[in-house]
Parts: sequence; structure tokens; C-alpha cells
Amino acid sequence: MNSDPGKHILCIGAGYVGGPTMAVIADKCPEYTVTIVDINEQRIEQWQSDSLPIYEPGLNEVVERTRDRNLFFSTDIENAIRAADIIFVSVNTPTKTFGEGAGKAADLQYWEKTARTIARIADSNKVVVEKSTLPLRTARAMERILEANKKGLHFDVLSNPEFLAEGTAINDLNDPDRVLIGSRQTERGLKARQALVDIFAHWVPTEKIITSNVWSAELSKLTANAFLAQRISSINSISALCEKSEADIEEVAAAIGKDRRIGSRFLKASVGFGGSCFKKDILNLVYICEHYGLNEVARYWESVVNLNEFQHRRFVQTMLKTMFNTIAGKRIALFGFAFKADTGDTRESPAIYIARKLVDEHAQVIVTDPEALANAKRDLRDISYAIEFADDPYKAAQDAHAIAVVTEWSEYTALDYQKIFETMQHPAFIFDGRNILDHKALHKIGFNVFPIGKPALKYF
Ligand SMILES: NC(=O)c1ccc[n+]([C@@H]2O[C@H](COP(=O)([O-])OP(=O)(O)OC[C@H]3O[C@@H](n4cnc5c(N)ncnc54)[C@H](O)[C@@H]3O)[C@@H](O)[C@H]2O)c1
Repeated sequence: MNSDPGKHILCIGAGYVGGPTMAVIADKCPEYTVTIVDINEQRIEQWQSDSLPIYEPGLNEVVERTRDRNLFFSTDIENAIRAADIIFVSVNTPTKTFGEGAGKAADLQYWEKTARTIARIADSNKVVVEKSTLPLRTARAMERILEANKKGLHFDVLSNPEFLAEGTAINDLNDPDRVLIGSRQTERGLKARQALVDIFAHWVPTEKIITSNVWSAELSKLTANAFLAQRISSINSISALCEKSEADIEEVAAAIGKDRRIGSRFLKASVGFGGSCFKKDILNLVYICEHYGLNEVARYWESVVNLNEFQHRRFVQTMLKTMFNTIAGKRIALFGFAFKADTGDTRESPAIYIARKLVDEHAQVIVTDPEALANAKRDLRDISYAIEFADDPYKAAQDAHAIAVVTEWSEYTALDYQKIFETMQHPAFIFDGRNILDHKALHKIGFNVFPIGKPALKYF
């Protein structure tokens, strides 16, 4: 282990953010020792094995290069805190499900426990970095908990929100649009900020390392997610209008995306966004606005989430209406269960809602996904009587009345749909919730094809 002073990094929370982020820091900064700890022993064991707990393209290679060199995984949180100079806190901050603010506010119990553990165990000054996405002014609460130590220790709290997207995490970390570091504008705060800048400056160009005050950094992360989700809900709202009017959402998106003021990214209509962040962070923003009495602002952002739920609902309603208003007893194959391609993460995936609604209608659901079947089984365990799981999409589609594409895995564009058509019940339906398939070719094969925001191609 490296023992240079100032060069011991600890990350508390070995999840989708902590794992990849620290692996890349270890990779780029060989003179630092990076330790990742978690209360979840199984997760730590998986990080130490050949079968990592999360799927992320390029992650295996980075972990193989760095693990046991200068990247270590452990459940010994207390010793790791003592040894650390800089502590990243990357624990989960889900939406609260109980008490005041339930359904909107962030549940800060994991985060607060971590702050208290640091205050209790630390025996030297530390820089503490908020990596988790947190409500505005959480750093102040963290400072208060840390300052309450009776050992005369000093903690500098920085906000360094993570902007990576699952599925492209390693690329995003290697080549970020920006790294944001919020600090107190005091001498100590600026010195702590510099310690973090020094780490990222190993590979991130200086002009991309942005500094700000702590509150701006905290709010920027919530705002970035709210804006990204808003673009998805905006294009999805227009997709609903397209389906009523014979306009084509892809033509509309291409036309507006050419406007440099709008730009072409995040204009793909779909069954709606999922993932652990967008909904929770917007609801958190809504809650904060309500707290400050900004009810109009709260309603404005809340509508982004409402529209997303409308889009999930519409997708199932279209299936039901199209398949002659009954899907009881029908076999429906869900192509994809992850909330997006290139991840096994199913948190808040539209697939969960869709599978449950189909089962409510007494359909038999067959789920296939290249990376997310283990999570899907867990998400649907209470309705397992009505769900089958298949590794192979051809098997999933066998004898099915319909296929619903829920995740935009590229492998689904390369399947032999002629072969699939022949093994399905007829009339055969495809509901392309991601607009990734060749709809005309499918129609020619004989499918009734229902894309999002485009005219259906059908035989009746
Ligand atoms: N997932 C993303 O794409 C993403 C992107 C940017 C930011 N974020 C934010 O980063 C944070 C972490 O997200 P995630 O997706 O990595 O969550 P995650 O659930 O995958 O990982 C969090 C980990 O923290 C551990 N943990 C909880 N309490 C602990 C404690 N007291 N001590 C030690 N470990 C503890 C959990 O066991 C879990 O393994 C959240 O605030 C999230 O909003 C997530």
C-alpha cells in the first residue's frame, strides 16, 4: 500500500457511482491508494471476484488493471476512515417512503449514518466529498454533524456531484464534459478544493474542472437531471400528439434538432425514462421548491415526472387496445428489462410498470434481457407466477402473441425477425417502445407494428 501523506482516498458506498468512479481515479492516479468500502458484504465480495456486481462496458478492464495495485475493496469501514485523507461519500439517497416528505424528499438516513461514523471514528482532519446527489444545503448539515466531534478535528466538506450516465460510465469518467467542485470560499475550503482538483487534473483538462460555491454545485446536479429528464418528457409529449395526427416524431425530432439552439441529443421518443436518478432527483427538487413556497416552480418540474408516467401508461394502453381489448391468457415477450441499454440496472425501469400492468390484465409475460435478468427476477418476485424468464430472445418470443421492446439493446436490432415471426402466434404484434427496429421490414414480414409517435403499420 502507498503511504504518501495526503494520498489516501476512501469512498464509502461501492455502488454504480462509487465503484466505477474510484476505479477510474485509481487507474489515472497510480500514486494514490484508493479504498472502497460498503456495508453490503456480498457487494464487496463481488467487487473482489471475477463477476463484478454491476455491468458497465469497459469496467472489468479498469478493475483488472487497478485491483490490489492501488484499488482495494473492504468492509472494514472504521480502519479505512482512519487511514483516509479524502473521503468520498457515495451512498444511496433514495426517495423517502415514510413520514414527512414521503414520496418526494430524499431519504438521507444512509448519508447521515455515514457522516456520524466519520465523526466518531476519525482521528485526524479529513476532506469529505459529497459524491451522492443530495438536497440543496446538505453540506451544511454534514458540516454540523462532523463539527460536533469532541476531538478538535476539522472536516472540510466539498460537493463533487457525479454526472456519469450508466451504460457509458467509463467513457464519461475518462472524458467528462466537466468536473464540478463546490467548496467554501475560505482559506481551508479552497485548500481542500485544490486537493480534489489535483486528483482530477491527472487526466481532465483544467478548463473542464469547474469550481463553484457548495450550494451551486449541489443544485447544479439536481438541475442537470431535471433538464435532461425534461427533454425526454418534452419529446414524449409530442410523440403522443404524433400518434393522433399522422405526424412522425422522428421527423419532428430531426427537424427541431437541427436548430443549434435546441440541439439533437436527448430527443429520442420512447416508452419513458427510468433509472434511479431522474425521478428521485426531480421529486427532490419539487420538495425543495415547496419548502421555499415556490409552488409554481414545484408544479412545473413535477409535470416532467407526470408526463413520464403518462408515457408508460399509454404504452400499455396501446397494447391492450390493439390486441382487441383483451390480453388475458396471451403471451407477451418483453425485449429488455434494464432501464436503458448497456446496464443491468433495473431501478425505476419502465419495464417494471409494464410487466405489472400486463399481469394485472392476466397476460403471461416472458422477460428477456442480456444483463438484467437477475435484477428483473428480484423486481417481479411477488408476481413470479405470471412471469417467465429467458436468456434467449428467440425462446422468449416463441408462441408469443406480441413482443414489446422496452430497452434499446443493439442486439435486438440484429435478430432474425422472419424466424421469430414464424414461431409466434398470429396475428403477431410488435410494440417498439424505443423505436429501434426497422418497422417497414417488420411489417413486410407480416408483423403489426406499433412504434412510439409514428403511424402504426398494420394489417387490419
Ligand atoms: N447511478 C447513477 O447513474 C448515478 C449518477 C450520478 C449520481 N448518482 C448518485 O450517487 C449516489 C449513489 O448512487 P448509486 O447508483 O451508486 O447507488 P447504489 O445503491 O448502487 O450504491 C450505494 C451503496 O452505498 C452503500 N451504503 C449505504 N449506506 C452505507 C453506509 N452507511 N456505509 C457504507 N456503505 C453504505 C450501499 O450498500 C450501496 O452499495 C446517489 O446519491 C445517486 O443519486 C447516481
